[in-house]
Amino acid sequence: MSKLIELIHVYKDFIVRTGLLRKEHRPGIWDVNMEIRENEIVGMVGGSGGGKTVIAWMIVGLLKPTKGSIMYYPMGLDVTKMSKKELRRYRADVNLVFQDPYSSLDPTHTVKWHIERPLKLYKYNGDIEERVVELLKEVSLSPPEEFLYKYPFQLSGGQRQRVYLARVLALNPKVLVADEPVSNVDASIRASLLELFKRLRDEKGISIMYITHDIATIGYVADRVYVVKQGRIVEEGDVERVITNPQNEYTKLLTKVVPNPYTRID
Ligand SMILES: Nc1ncnc2c1ncn2[C@@H]1O[C@H](COP(=O)(O)OP(=O)(O)OP(=O)(O)O)[C@@H](O)[C@H]1O
Ligand SMILES: [Mg+2]
Repeated sequence: MSKLIELIHVYKDFIVRTGLLRKEHRPGIWDVNMEIRENEIVGMVGGSGGGKTVIAWMIVGLLKPTKGSIMYYPMGLDVTKMSKKELRRYRADVNLVFQDPYSSLDPTHTVKWHIERPLKLYKYNGDIEERVVELLKEVSLSPPEEFLYKYPFQLSGGQRQRVYLARVLALNPKVLVADEPVSNVDASIRASLLELFKRLRDEKGISIMYITHDIATIGYVADRVYVVKQGRIVEEGDVERVITNPQNEYTKLLTKVVPNPYTRID
C-alpha cells in the first residue's frame, strides 16, 4: 500500500513560561516517524498528554513542527513548507474530525446550511441541494429531508457527529484525522459511528487516522497502530499483532486494562 502522508523525524518543542521572566523549552514531540497509507484506518493510541492531538494538528497543518517534515505525496509537497494557497488545497484533502461535534457546529444554523457551506466555499458546480441530500445519505442520516432544516440542538450527539462528517465529506477528502471522535457520544451509538468510519474506508477509499485512549476501540476499528507515550512512538505495527503480542511495557499496560481488548468495542 502506498504512502499518502509521512512524518519524518518530527519534533515539536513548546516554550513554557515558568516565572515572570523565565521561559523554558519543553519537548512536546520527539522524533516521530509515522505514515498514513492509502485506504487504511491507522490508529494512534496513548494516555492523556502523550502528544496525540499535537501530532494530529501538525498533520492537518494547524501547528508547525519545530523540526522535521510532513510529506503529502499526492501533491508532492512538504506540509510545513506549503504556501497559503497550497495549504488551502491540502485542507480540502486532509481534514480533522474533532472530539466534540457540538462546538464545531453553529447553533444558530441548520444542518443544510452547515453542509452547503464548504460546497459554496469551494465553488461546487452541481446541484447543491442534491449533493447535500446525497451526503446525508452517506452518513446514514435518513430520511435526509427530515434533517435538512434541523438545528444542532435538535440532534443527538451521534447525529451531530454525522452532520459534521457529512460536511467534511463534502470536499471529497482523501484523509480524515479523527481525534477521539466518539468519546462524547453514548456507548450505545459509538459502535455504529465506528462502522461508519469503516464504511468510508471500504466504500470511498478514504484513509483515516483514528486517535483514542482506548486500545480496545483500536482493535475494533484499525488496521495498523502507533502507540504514543510522552511524545514518542513506543510501538507500532499490525493491530492484531500489537494487541495480542505487545512488545513494549507501556503497550502491555494498555492492553491489560481491558480484559479482552480484541473483541470489546466501547
Ligand atoms: N500550546 C502548547 N503550549 C505548551 N504545551 C503544550 C501546548 N500544546 C500541547 N502542549 C503539551 O504537549 C503535550 C501533549 O499534549 P496533547 O494535547 O497532544 O496530548 P494528547 O495525547 O492529545 O492528550 P489527551 O489524550 O488528553 O487528548 C502535553 O504535555 C501538553 O501540555
Ligand atoms: Mg488530545
